[in-house]
Amino acid sequence: MVTSTRPNLAAVDALLRDGYWDRTEIIRMADGSQRVRKQSKGQQSAGPWGMDNLRSEAQYLQDLEPHLIDLFPRLIASWEQPAPGYDMSYHKECVDLGQLARAKVFNQQQADQFQTHLGKRVFGQLHTPSKATCILSANVLDTLKKASYAMASSADLACLLEDNLNINGSNCCPISTNISRLTSETQLLQTIDSQPQVRLHGDLFLENILLPKFSSLKQWPTQLVLIDPVSVAGIRSGLPLFDLAKYESYATGELPAMRRGHVQVRGIGIGIGIGRENTRDLGFTIDWHDTDMKAYTEVNWHSSLRQSYVSHYGAVDEAMYALLQAYFAAAMVLCTEGIERQARALKASLSLEYAISLSL
Ligand SMILES: Nc1ncnc2c1ncn2[C@@H]1O[C@H](COP(=O)(O)OP(=O)(O)O)[C@@H](O)[C@H]1O
Ligand SMILES: [Mg+2]
Repeated sequence: MVTSTRPNLAAVDALLRDGYWDRTEIIRMADGSQRVRKQSKGQQSAGPWGMDNLRSEAQYLQDLEPHLIDLFPRLIASWEQPAPGYDMSYHKECVDLGQLARAKVFNQQQADQFQTHLGKRVFGQLHTPSKATCILSANVLDTLKKASYAMASSADLACLLEDNLNINGSNCCPISTNISRLTSETQLLQTIDSQPQVRLHGDLFLENILLPKFSSLKQWPTQLVLIDPVSVAGIRSGLPLFDLAKYESYATGELPAMRRGHVQVRGIGIGIGIGRENTRDLGFTIDWHDTDMKAYTEVNWHSSLRQSYVSHYGAVDEAMYALLQAYFAAAMVLCTEGIERQARALKASLSLEYAISLSL
């Protein structure tokens, strides 16, 4: 049932996440029942994005057709005042797959069973045609431009806007040049809009998928619940590849490595890195040997989902895939710092170069 006033809670039992714009808590009602409440922090910290996003998430859950209800937590209430928020069912027995992967409780067969089932439900059921106006290509371009400006005005990243870059052994134009080439020399942005649009999850990665912590059932890996739909930028429909590309950026281990500092960056900084023929030698290397990374090197969390994608949609468009990786990395340039931000900036620059070279 959706209400327009926020139901009174009896107590906050635990804080699940204190995000930039919103807070996720386990709450207890007067009758002793528990729920998860996600609410905006209000005007000051929310900005227009956070508020719209929570509204959009609640709407997304409300719009689900009956056969998809079990794939997400049940929407219990949503409200606008004093700030947008919603209550959903609490899956007490569950943890998110990010934690499950790090705890290394699944063998490869279970991880494959999970991915195959995820593909069935996301590509086979959630991805239905959408008539929503496409905002993705405009958002991709805008995000790349914002990242480029942010890099230009940053002391350590400004060097990535000089000519003659070499990143991880490949010659690379600066991101600013490649943004112009993207619009003038390729059809990639037009292709984003002209492809059939589907309803996306929008933020499909391991931390937004829940599974029971323990189970003796054979079908344990298939008992999944998706949470946190709609991307930070409000994307909830677009090309199907979006969900695969987002999922893989994390499940391959690259994103968790960058987040946890298991990445080395070279060549960044004033006066260093200039090599042969005035080329700036740059690079980033994931520390795959770190024990934290075993979660992703000992179990493959991504290939079976890709297989499922290919059987639903055909071969992956590699140029589009690279553009989406550039977009995700550029978005993170805008909200991270230090080595992680440097690694994201290098990844965004290199992926955009790759996207363009593949589409010419
Ligand atoms: N309905 C739920 N039941 C159990 N745990 C949940 C539920 N919703 C969220 N969580 C936990 O809280 C974390 C944060 O919630 P999420 O909606 O992903 O917030 P954010 O938008 O800040 O990422 C999740 O990664 C998950 O571990
Ligand atoms: Mg989340």
